[in-house]
Parts: sequence; C-alpha cells; structure tokens
Amino acid sequence: MTSKVVFNNVTRRFDLKNEPFLALDRFSLDIMDGEFVTVVGPSGCGKSTALNIAAGLMQPSEGEVLIDGMPVDGPGPERGVIFQQYALFPWLTVRQNVEFGLRIKGEPAARRREIAERFIDLVGLSDFADSLPKTLSGGMKQRCAIARAYAVDPTILLMDEPFGALDALTRVQLQDQLLETWSRERRTVMFITHDVDEAVYLANRVIIMAARPGRLKEIIDVDLPYPRTEEIRLSPEFMEIRNRVWHAVYHQ
Ligand SMILES: Nc1ncnc2c1ncn2[C@@H]1O[C@H](COP(=O)(O)OP(=O)(O)OP(=O)(O)O)[C@@H](O)[C@H]1O
Ligand SMILES: [Mg+2]
Repeated sequence: MTSKVVFNNVTRRFDLKNEPFLALDRFSLDIMDGEFVTVVGPSGCGKSTALNIAAGLMQPSEGEVLIDGMPVDGPGPERGVIFQQYALFPWLTVRQNVEFGLRIKGEPAARRREIAERFIDLVGLSDFADSLPKTLSGGMKQRCAIARAYAVDPTILLMDEPFGALDALTRVQLQDQLLETWSRERRTVMFITHDVDEAVYLANRVIIMAARPGRLKEIIDVDLPYPRTEEIRLSPEFMEIRNRVWHAVYHQ
C-alpha cells in the first residue's frame, strides 16, 4: 500500500495575546491510498487546523504535508474540501455552486449541467437547484457543499464535520452514500466528526486527538468488514470499538 497523504511532524502556532499558542504539536500521520480515516477529539484540539493545512489553505509553522509524495503548496483539484462552515458562494444558486469547480476544471456547459444534476439529486436538493443559499436551511446548505465537493471527482476528500448540521435520517443516508462511492472508486478520505458512532461506522482507522497542545493521542483500527450495515452497527464488535474510542476521547 502506498501513502497518499502524509503529515510529517506538522506543528502550527498562533499568537494569542502576544503569547504563542500551540494549536498543533508535531502531528504525524500516514493515510494510505484508498484509506478512510476519521478524526475525533475535543473541541479546539487542532482537527480543522490539520485538515486546512492538508487542504493547502493554511501554512504549518513547522513540518509538512505530502500528497503523493509531493509537499503541499496550496489547494489542488485532486483534493475536495468540505469545510466546517459550509462555504458557499452566496451570489450563486445551488446549481451554480455545484458547477463551480467543474467550470474551473474546464468541463463544457452541457457536461457541467449533467454532473451537477446528478449530485444535486444525490443530496436531495433537486427542487432547490435554482435557489440561492440564503433561502436554504443549514442542513440544505451543507448538502449543497457536499454536492459541490463530490462533483469535481477528487481522489482525496477532506471533510470537516460534513454531516454535523444534518438530521439523523439524512445523515445515515449520506454516510451510506459516501461509503458506497468510496468503496466503488477507492478515494482517500480524511473525515472529522464529533460523533463517535459515525467515526467508527465509516473508518478503517479512527484517529484520536488530544487538546492543549493539539496532538495525536491514539489510533484505533476498526477491524470490521465493508459494506458496513445496520447489522454491523448493532454488533458487539462495533460496540466494543465504539467504547474504546469513546473512552480515549472523553477520558483525557
Ligand atoms: N486563525 C486562528 N487564530 C488564532 N487561533 C486559532 C486560529 N485558528 C485556530 N485557532 C486555535 O487553534 C486551536 C485549534 O483550532 P481548530 O479549529 O483546529 O480546532 P478543532 O479541533 O477543529 O475544534 P472544533 O472541534 O471546535 O472544530 C483552537 O484553540 C483555536 O482557538
Ligand atoms: Mg474544527
């Protein structure tokens, strides 16, 4: 197996009231090609910081992130990012938002339309394709951001609490859709969540972080088969792993 995303001793400091603050302390992690990792940890432990550095949107103070062996130098089309705060262009409709990356990729109009249609339908927003973001609920905005990231067909998905604002049913549906595309197209996924069940249900490995300073605490292998099903979710093996993750996160 080859490495796809490598965090090499990534450190990030911020100046808070003229004092240096360690948001991320020597974070190292090797994500394999085609692997699905989830990241959990208390608020402020540096999850978004790590993801934004991998996305090329933030510079590390020390260390580096490698994508396919090459140091990250800004954002790239092979990395699809879904932000914690759904970042939609407010002046564009749902359809135009989803088509945005495809336009940059140089897809012709008819093809853009067709791809956008497919992903808007996937996230259940067909009736709102021509609406502006301000007319959507939080969960609908989030689904639009998901469609936009999926549409450009990235090999790496960097997802920062993508399903956080969704109702339980939509959330489970989108988890299963994500797993389905992931196993079919072998993408590499780094997925941040606060939900321990979600973290275990989706992942090959759960990365547990600790705060003050933000750092890697523990990695728990999820040795459960795919496709993940409701049966697996209710199995004693699932519960056992879930409890270990829960303990590692909340007994820090
Ligand atoms: N631009 C910034 N300037 C100053 N401090 C920052 C900045 N961005 C993040 N931080 C600090 O770095 C720490 C890590 O932030 P980060 O957003 O990575 O946490 P997180 O694990 O994603 O938390 P949450 O679960 O609440 O989203 C926090 O203490 C935060 O206050
Ligand atoms: Mg965050």
